[in-house]
Amino acid sequence: METKCFKALGCISALGLGTSGLGGGLWQRDEAHDERHLAVLANALAKGIWVIDTSEVYGDGHAEELIGKALSNFGRGERDRIIVITKFWPDKADEDSIISSAKSSARRLGTYIDVFMPHGPTSDLCKTVRAMEKVVDMGLARFWGLSNVKRVDIEGARGCAKKYDIAAVENIFNFINKIDAHEGLSYAQREGILYIAASPLGRGLVLESIKLRRIANALKRTPAQIALRWLMDKEGVVPIPRTSRPERVLEFAETYGWRLPEEYARELDSL
Ligand SMILES: NC(=O)c1ccc[n+]([C@@H]2O[C@H](COP(=O)([O-])OP(=O)(O)OC[C@H]3O[C@@H](n4cnc5c(N)ncnc54)[C@H](OP(=O)(O)O)[C@@H]3O)[C@@H](O)[C@H]2O)c1
Repeated sequence: METKCFKALGCISALGLGTSGLGGGLWQRDEAHDERHLAVLANALAKGIWVIDTSEVYGDGHAEELIGKALSNFGRGERDRIIVITKFWPDKADEDSIISSAKSSARRLGTYIDVFMPHGPTSDLCKTVRAMEKVVDMGLARFWGLSNVKRVDIEGARGCAKKYDIAAVENIFNFINKIDAHEGLSYAQREGILYIAASPLGRGLVLESIKLRRIANALKRTPAQIALRWLMDKEGVVPIPRTSRPERVLEFAETYGWRLPEEYARELDSL
């Protein structure tokens, strides 16, 4: 495993796992593939992919239940080194419904939440931040974060926080889609905030890139490994690829332990 270190979170694994699609679709529970999805999680945890990103909406909560099942095989010492991020739907604006979401997620996970965040911008950011601080005070989560935000939102949210600083930001980021990467990323890097790269494989579409395939052939790696390594080589960035196939997790784990040569990184930077 490789690690990256952050102000609030300390040192955590440099690669994570996304879990949309595990346990069903958005707001849709499906238990038919539980065995395969548990194997995806078991492989990730066995290979030191120790940042797990989920949400109350993935499989209508069933992804969280599967994660809870996979984590139950770990002792307290190991669990404390794993980072579980979960998200609530941003239509919840009032404190009671945000706390209620956190309680339900922690119950399904069977453990505390490491980072709790809304899926996207909420109608009243300050109110949301204070509710997330309450969730931390209640011991349901260790930290709070934000998703699908710009630098200005991060700064605004930090200004609203009374007790705890932001720990993580989660934005879509891959070598084709670099939304806000310049401003938000450099800000997070400077402030020691974890920058989670959501959709690091562009939902599989970026793997079709001819340039990516050429680099993968030259380095005897797979396109997914190049796409992930490009992100992992950036300070403060932890990508969270998703797969429904246990064997692909082993492919992801092989991104540990090497770096993308500078000339190839520059090629992907410039796309
Ligand atoms: N905060 C947000 O609003 C937000 C938004 C988007 C995503 N996310 C998070 O980011 C995670 C990942 O993003 P994503 O779900 O958009 O997808 P992604 O990780 O960018 O791509 C996943 C897709 O790529 C395919 N794939 C994976 N490995 C592959 C390989 N080695 N070769 C070929 N195809 C491969 C997968 O198919 P198979 O299943 O067949 O392997 C799947 O269809 C999500 O699960 C979620 O946790 C968060």
